[in-house]
Amino acid sequence: MNINKGKEWWMGASHFQMELANIAKCLLLGVVILWIQIHGNKGCFEEERLALLDFKAFVGSNGFDADHLLPSWIDDPTSNCCKWERVMCNSTTGHVTKLSLNNTRQYDIKSSSFHNENTWYVNLSMFQQLKELKTLNLSYNNFDCSIDDQGCEKLSKLKKLEVLDLTWNRFNNIILPSLGALISLKTLILDHNKMEGSFPIQGFQRLEELDLTMNSFNNSILSSLAALPSLNTLILASSYMKGSFPNQGIVSIINDYY
Ligand SMILES: *[C@@H]1O[C@H](CO)[C@@H](O)[C@H](O)[C@H]1NC(C)=O
Ligand SMILES: *[C@@H]1O[C@H](CO)[C@@H](O)[C@H](O)[C@H]1NC(C)=O
Ligand SMILES: *[C@@H]1O[C@H](CO)[C@@H](O)[C@H](O)[C@H]1NC(C)=O
Ligand SMILES: *[C@@H]1O[C@H](CO)[C@@H](O)[C@H](O)[C@H]1NC(C)=O
Ligand SMILES: *[C@@H]1O[C@H](CO)[C@@H](O)[C@H](O)[C@H]1NC(C)=O
Repeated sequence: MNINKGKEWWMGASHFQMELANIAKCLLLGVVILWIQIHGNKGCFEEERLALLDFKAFVGSNGFDADHLLPSWIDDPTSNCCKWERVMCNSTTGHVTKLSLNNTRQYDIKSSSFHNENTWYVNLSMFQQLKELKTLNLSYNNFDCSIDDQGCEKLSKLKKLEVLDLTWNRFNNIILPSLGALISLKTLILDHNKMEGSFPIQGFQRLEELDLTMNSFNNSILSSLAALPSLNTLILASSYMKGSFPNQGIVSIINDYY
């Protein structure tokens, strides 16, 4: 009798344990689902997604079919912007680290019609939310700042930016102070823009590589460049620069004409 009672109690307890195990399983499943929700979608921060959509809207505002040019950039909060074309994120942090917005219009840049393409007046402030951006390629876009520097000055908020390629745009010297304020900038490519005269000496403390090909700077820039502490590569092709270069520290100077 006593033994049976004990058995019943034991069986009750084991039933209770099974219930507990089931609850634990459910909880575990819940945690796993929650973890996937948080981390699986972690690829895209809302403010970064919105900044990218601002760029898409800008493309559309210039009369181009933005859905055709940037097809995966869809305005849907569940869309992971790290998976969009031209966008790269750090897989650990989920922040956008590289944007390849080169040749946004997808023109045949070798054809002569590209050379006559309209200037797009861009407000680069839209990128200021991309705080972890390391590489920004805006080459072959015929961009200029909207209203003097006002559309470009906020670019200096990109404190992590290391590589900026502005090849084949219409930026002039007005943008240079904002670029000088990019404290992490190591590579700056200004090939084929509308720069002229002198180069500012403020900022550019970490700049290692500078490409000034096809601009109209004059010889006065050589002394300002000599003051840049980290510069080791300077490309001056087709810049009509004459005379000797004062800085011993610069490792390679490419100064040939096309
Ligand atoms: C991603 O970010 C983490 C944390 O900031 C960093 O340690 C890591 O090097 C980054 N990965 C890449 C590929 O840059
Ligand atoms: C930017 O894109 C162009 C192609 O449009 C490429 O030639 C260039 O190497 C890229 N710049 C950087 C710094 O990767
Ligand atoms: C942009 O540049 C990358 C290399 O940096 C290249 O692979 C890609 O084709 C370019 N995109 C366009 C539209 O030219
Ligand atoms: C550029 O965009 C920012 C917001 O992103 C806005 O505050 C500013 O007025 C704009 N500047 C110009 C010149 O349109
Ligand atoms: C270079 O350009 C700057 C600014 O336009 C001007 O002040 C300077 O006199 C010029 N220097 C030479 C050597 O032409």
